[in-house]
Amino acid sequence: MSKQLGNQADDYRWPHRHLLSLEELSSQDIRFLLTTALGFESVSTRSVKKVPALRGRVVVNLFFEDSTRTRASFHLAASRLSADVLEFSAKGSSVAKGETLIDTARNIEAMGVDAIVVRHQQSGAARMVSQAVGCSVLNAGDGQHEHPTQGLLDVFTIAKRLNRTDTFDFTGLKVAIVGDIAHSRVARSNVHALQKLGARVVLVGPPTLLPGGFRDMGCELSHDLDAVLPGVDAVNMLRVQFERLTSQAFPSVREYSSLFGLTAARMQRARKDILVMHPGPMNRGLEIESAVADSPNSTILEQVTNGLAIRMAGLFLTVGAS
Ligand code: CP
Repeated sequence: MSKQLGNQADDYRWPHRHLLSLEELSSQDIRFLLTTALGFESVSTRSVKKVPALRGRVVVNLFFEDSTRTRASFHLAASRLSADVLEFSAKGSSVAKGETLIDTARNIEAMGVDAIVVRHQQSGAARMVSQAVGCSVLNAGDGQHEHPTQGLLDVFTIAKRLNRTDTFDFTGLKVAIVGDIAHSRVARSNVHALQKLGARVVLVGPPTLLPGGFRDMGCELSHDLDAVLPGVDAVNMLRVQFERLTSQAFPSVREYSSLFGLTAARMQRARKDILVMHPGPMNRGLEIESAVADSPNSTILEQVTNGLAIRMAGLFLTVGAS
């Protein structure tokens, strides 16, 4: 651990009972969590994929929004730590009878729960829950705010592909995040994680989906993907979140795709070893062409695999800190 954390390693203790945002984590916290995840990676390759780290503990997946990757990944991560896992979906629950988010969380906690993993369409929902319960709360995506474990698994994937897991120091790297930045919790968490590790970030998208406020976060902004591509080490393609659009953000899907879609033709402009990332779910043929999504440059399935170790580390550290 000392190599990653420098001279302060011996004094360092993970200080957070909750994992709500990457904005509030220090670069040391992020490196410590990534290093902890490295230690958990081997569990998934054993024939018996379990360690007793959270034996006797209970983790609840409290999901108010659809999910494939994050929900399954948190479930498996908790199982691999030997915790009991309870799945909760708003559909089919007493939320349909008018029960509030806070009452729902408090009732679930009253069953003797150690961690609640929350996904909710409202920004700030995970923090609200954390203020109402005594157990750990992990944010699995809250509205347009943050998706911290996605940001962590993305930087973990970059570090592994580019052999930077010794230090998790991203100095000299430049990453483009492309698409619907305005509605993206993934973009916000990525910006915080990448910058805290030392990378530069350029955000690319149509003016209607690229708020100028990101400049204040230290990001470069561009509307020209062709100009940006040759200068970046990784490109993270985002889905257009049609379900969150309140007005038409671009003239047509065809025009969006021709300007901001990552096509095989456009990839000719990029470095040969550029990393192509996507948090999923992908709209093949819109923001990314299948030939690119399934190419050797793509880290898309590695991101999903890496999510397990990241979520094991997140659960282990936060429940441990409780
Ligand atoms: N990346 C991500 O959050 O995917 P899901 O919506 O499937 O969880």
